[in-house]
Amino acid sequence: MSEHTVLNMTPMNYSPDRPAAANPVKVMDLTLRDGHQSLFATRGRTEDMIPVAELMDEVGFWAVETWGGATFDTMHRFLNEDPWERIRTLKRYFKKTPFSMLLRAQNLVGYRNYADDVAKAFMDRACENGMDVFRTFDALNDYRNFQTVVPKIKEYGKHFQGCICYTMTQPRLGGEVYNLDYYVNKAKDLEAMGADSICVKDMAGLIAPYDAYELVKALKAATGIPIHLHSHFTSGMSPMSHLKAIEAGVDIIDTCMTPYAYRTAHAAIEPLVMTLLGTNRDTGFDIHKLAEINVILEKEVLPKYKHLLDDSKVSIIDINVLLHQTPGGMLSNLVNQLREMDALDKIDEVYKELPKVRKDLGQIPLVTPTSQIVGIQTVNNVLFDTPDERYKMITGQVKDLCYGLYGKTAVPINPDVQKKALKGYDRGEEPITCRPAEVLEPELEKAKEEIGDLAVDMDDLVLYAIYPVTGKKFLQWKYGKEEPPAEVQPTSLETALAKEELIKQARKGEVVPKSKLAEQPEKTENTRTFNVFIDDEVIEVSVDEVGGSPVLNYIQAGGAIAPAPAAAPAAPAVPAGPAPAAPKPAAPAPAAPAPAEAPKAAAPAPAPAAAADAEGTPLTAPMPGMIVKYAKEVGDSVEKGETVLILEAMKMENALPAPVSGTIKAIGFSSGDSVAKNAVLAVIG
Ligand code: CO
Repeated sequence: MSEHTVLNMTPMNYSPDRPAAANPVKVMDLTLRDGHQSLFATRGRTEDMIPVAELMDEVGFWAVETWGGATFDTMHRFLNEDPWERIRTLKRYFKKTPFSMLLRAQNLVGYRNYADDVAKAFMDRACENGMDVFRTFDALNDYRNFQTVVPKIKEYGKHFQGCICYTMTQPRLGGEVYNLDYYVNKAKDLEAMGADSICVKDMAGLIAPYDAYELVKALKAATGIPIHLHSHFTSGMSPMSHLKAIEAGVDIIDTCMTPYAYRTAHAAIEPLVMTLLGTNRDTGFDIHKLAEINVILEKEVLPKYKHLLDDSKVSIIDINVLLHQTPGGMLSNLVNQLREMDALDKIDEVYKELPKVRKDLGQIPLVTPTSQIVGIQTVNNVLFDTPDERYKMITGQVKDLCYGLYGKTAVPINPDVQKKALKGYDRGEEPITCRPAEVLEPELEKAKEEIGDLAVDMDDLVLYAIYPVTGKKFLQWKYGKEEPPAEVQPTSLETALAKEELIKQARKGEVVPKSKLAEQPEKTENTRTFNVFIDDEVIEVSVDEVGGSPVLNYIQAGGAIAPAPAAAPAAPAVPAGPAPAAPKPAAPAPAAPAPAEAPKAAAPAPAPAAAADAEGTPLTAPMPGMIVKYAKEVGDSVEKGETVLILEAMKMENALPAPVSGTIKAIGFSSGDSVAKNAVLAVIG
């Protein structure tokens, strides 16, 4: 037993009144942010945090993480919740435990560097709304990106926790780039910047127990401020790494309440409390109180979220992380992206390509947003590159990275890739070496002009400045200008339990099929057949819409018109796309249900119909996504290769080029619309 874990009392006593340990491990709870972000797609609602808030306030956590990371994005986009309101609401229940947020430095709570004026305004609002601890990280560990936000943290007298993103290029700590010296130097930089504590941010669960020991020892020796370990469970090592870090003298550990623990989240608190009970690092927590919180979460909250859990595998450990040294979330994004593009068979090629792309892009750490940047470029290379052309479809974010807009990479970017990426780049072909935000024009005034009175206060304006498209939509919901769609409304516990029951019955075959009912409807010519996959079983389902309104029309219209004449080079062709079986159809293909009987007024044709009817070469969506904006209007002329629109897919912006030169004949969608793969986005004639 190490000197740090001596038993100094009778370990028979759970009571919170037991003698305090000499050097208790401090604990930050992540349930209300990283926990649901890791397991339940960040869909946790404020109303589901309130039932446990007062109890959690009593535990004695060093802090609770309640905000930041992806919460700001998902709350306004998917939950119709004002992110700022969450801080104020939860503060009414947490009276003594400080709040911590994950701050992506100059990226704030978004995916790019924002201008200094937006960053300052955001920090003012976060501090004034009640945030206490700012866990600040930069995806490149380039601390120049801290220079705007840190003085704000200090101005308000808050806690500045500086992060070092933990990453590596080989199975264990060491090697040429990410070795012990690298981390020690980064820690010294943070301390020199005025950090109140240092967090080793192991977002992928890569840190091995003995490396954690070495690292914490070295950081404790090199600095004089508390060391905090944040390690995801993903690979299965984190509970062991926590223990070795504790033996090495780590000050603070991150955990989750049990229902939000393990898998891609974090180790649970209760086993740690038990492990340290009676030692000189005893947390002092009351395990019965923790159990009480667990029961509430399990019974009253989790039924609403269980369906979001990826339970496709029995294993709760992802050994791919050990094999590829990449975050589990990134790997599952890659798999999803490939699946959406019907290219799941290319996964092994993606695994092979990934380290190459990462090296080309400066051996950057893999964390939001760099994990997406590297991941999506890797998929693009695998899908679109040809034997004589590499990096055929470069995302906007890779161009930004090559320009220096994210900061300085760990090693220089491959000059050939950089040159290709910056050819025709709108900020210039020569990369910058200064702090990225130096070259960003102020954004706040422009945002104010654009959004006008819809932003009532600074909270609204900052939300809009960070998320112009979805932020505007949210403000329209918030102020009753537009009805929020059904899918952003909360589910009640009753509905969640009823749904679960129905699924159970269906699995047991207890749901009465319509064929057994007395009156059977007739199949119409519009009937379409789908395969429904439930785990490994396939059920064939025929869908015939009651009332005949062409809800699925846009997908079919896109699919039907997608075939371009063989001579016309289509927009980045997706291998699995519909094969051009016939020349451009003059009339809608038979697959598209003709809404013959439905009068136009009753069933307005979806917007894409305009594009579907136009003559010319279609520009189709190479992947599902959301239209950010069109760069061209109907009637504009375009050169082949010129950007027609920006499509956001997997959080990356892709500039889609014109497949041919000509005039824009039709435009299928508008800004903010979601589109399916192969949807006709524009027609060029
Ligand atoms: Co995390």
